Amino acid sequence: MSAQLKKTVHLLLLQKLNYNQLRYCTAKEKDYARKIKESTVVCSNHLTPEIKLHLITEQCKLWYSTSDECEFEDPFWAFYWPGGQVISRFLLDNQNQVNKKKVLDIGSGSAACSIAAAMAGANTVTANDIDLVACVAATLNAQLNNVKLEISSDNFLFSEGLQYDVIIIGDMFYSKELADVLWKWLFKLCDKGQTILIGDPGRHCFQPDQNLQKRLIKLKEYNLTENCCLENRGFSTASVWTIN
Ligand SMILES: C[S@@+](CC[C@H](N)C(=O)[O-])C[C@H]1O[C@@H](n2cnc3c(N)ncnc32)[C@H](O)[C@@H]1O
Repeated sequence: MSAQLKKTVHLLLLQKLNYNQLRYCTAKEKDYARKIKESTVVCSNHLTPEIKLHLITEQCKLWYSTSDECEFEDPFWAFYWPGGQVISRFLLDNQNQVNKKKVLDIGSGSAACSIAAAMAGANTVTANDIDLVACVAATLNAQLNNVKLEISSDNFLFSEGLQYDVIIIGDMFYSKELADVLWKWLFKLCDKGQTILIGDPGRHCFQPDQNLQKRLIKLKEYNLTENCCLENRGFSTASVWTIN
């Protein structure tokens, strides 16, 4: 097949994918998609340059806006958090962790970790975030990287019958309330045989009860990129953990 023909087939496939995805898109989701594209830039300046993401960076107007001026409430999906960056790097470099497995990414935000899991050969990947705008950002980012993701806005915390092999938690220990729920839930899931992968830069709430602490195992520590350190003042490294 000539290079030109290959390019045309590829474009037709992409158009078909977009068409199918748009058919199921509500007007609200289409509006979010438009606003996300307008307010972000496509960025790969992070620990996983093989993944492109719609992010708010210094080049964007929103970077300099106050929260009152921002049209999105808590646009966590517009940043690639240190905990998420290290999990993605870890998955891309250790594909056996998710290869041929069923993966759930809780608090997926931009869905970078989900995209890394898909690139590493996971059978299915569900990107889960209770923020509907994050779910639209996940769809756009999946398209940008040509990977297929299931996307869910359900609240899975407390669910005990989850049928996944690996559960990813990228940088979710940012509040005490959330951390308390997460620790209880994750230890239970682990006891039921699920593999848990957590990425965290050493946040204050990343601290389970003393008797559970010995079950936390550090798999790998990474130095963060310069821009990530600047964005997350006080953190220069982040680590991937599992629970045994
Ligand atoms: C700090 S961001 C991390 C995003 C991404 N994992 C990363 O590392 O770049 C945390 C995300 O968790 C989401 N979140 C908070 N509570 C949640 C819940 N109960 N279930 C699913 N997502 C939740 C937020 O909407 C937010 O997008």
